[in-house]
Amino acid sequence: MLANVDLKPYNTMGVSSVADFFTTVHDLDELKKALAFAKEKGLRPFVLGGGSNLLLVSERLSRVVMHMAIEGFEKVGESSEAIFIKVGAGESWHGTVQRTLKLGLPGLENLALIPGSVGAAVVQNIGAYGSEVAQFVKEVEVYDPASGERRTVKHAECDFRYRHSLFKTPKAADWVVLSVTLALPKRWEPNLSYKDLQQAFSEGGLSTAVGIFDAVVALRQKKLPDPREIGSAGSFFKNPIVTREAFQALLEQFPSIVHYRLAGGLEKLAAGWMIDYAGLKGFREGDAGVYDKQALVLVNYGYATGSELWQLAQDVRAKVKAVFGIELEPEPVIL
Ligand code: EPU
Repeated sequence: MLANVDLKPYNTMGVSSVADFFTTVHDLDELKKALAFAKEKGLRPFVLGGGSNLLLVSERLSRVVMHMAIEGFEKVGESSEAIFIKVGAGESWHGTVQRTLKLGLPGLENLALIPGSVGAAVVQNIGAYGSEVAQFVKEVEVYDPASGERRTVKHAECDFRYRHSLFKTPKAADWVVLSVTLALPKRWEPNLSYKDLQQAFSEGGLSTAVGIFDAVVALRQKKLPDPREIGSAGSFFKNPIVTREAFQALLEQFPSIVHYRLAGGLEKLAAGWMIDYAGLKGFREGDAGVYDKQALVLVNYGYATGSELWQLAQDVRAKVKAVFGIELEPEPVIL
């Protein structure tokens, strides 16, 4: 256990925040020890994955940070429809996508290059280019500190929704994800539902899983900042979901508003388009800015503090609220 550790290298926003205590967890035994330590100190534990969906607002974090490093990648079975691969929560998500494709197991290609760990991927139900991780999750193994036991949470119990899962709710707030069993389809079909991907393959190119993987990587590299160069947490806000009535009223005022029709009489609005329309794309306040290629992404050009980035997020929210009457909800975990 280390004391007073600056988390700057452990969050892709590249923000400084000193944790009271910090340890790396490689297995259940180390996890139990770290949890016992936190209890003894009277501090709340915090599970840190790849740190790619996190904004550390304050300069001090009075928690016991447990850096998740549980490894593992093995085939654990199959059904007539799918191959099951169990992956440790600390494995990198993108590395996992690459490994499955190398083994000739397609499915995850639309989710290429998303930063972060496998554990975090299920907690926030990562999604991009027409796919969500939920589609490929058979079950999630967690440790429940209250009972001191491991539990297997089946797909149906996970309550996956857009950027949401059971693991984000108070009921499961203390559970720690140990591993995820992925179900990769035996009968694969390309998912070209996202417009830019359709375009990439419209000239008769062969839409193999590896071809889609390459196209997704190229798209992300064009639109999103490379966390090694510019700090960011990916999209900073969720795309808001509104009723069709509320949407109709907006459409009259903003005929070019970008939206996606959902089931149940709902519409999802493109928050990036709204921030861009509100004139904030490329806006910069010191080292905190709205990315100039994708307005949904807030970036740290070098030395922005967590509170400066949080202030910028509030300014963006206030502007969008003033123009559209819509409240944007942050996507990353805010600490
Ligand atoms: N748009 C603009 N201006 C902008 C940004 C976007 O006009 O500055 C427009 C685009 O032209 C497009 C629409 O808004 O018509 C949506 O943009 P985009 O396709 O880039 O996707 P997004 O809704 O902004 C979501 C995810 C991303 C994911 C992409 C692709 C959320 C919060 N974000 O972004 O996920 O990569 O779709 O599927 O749902 C992340 O969560 O960190 C993330 C990067």
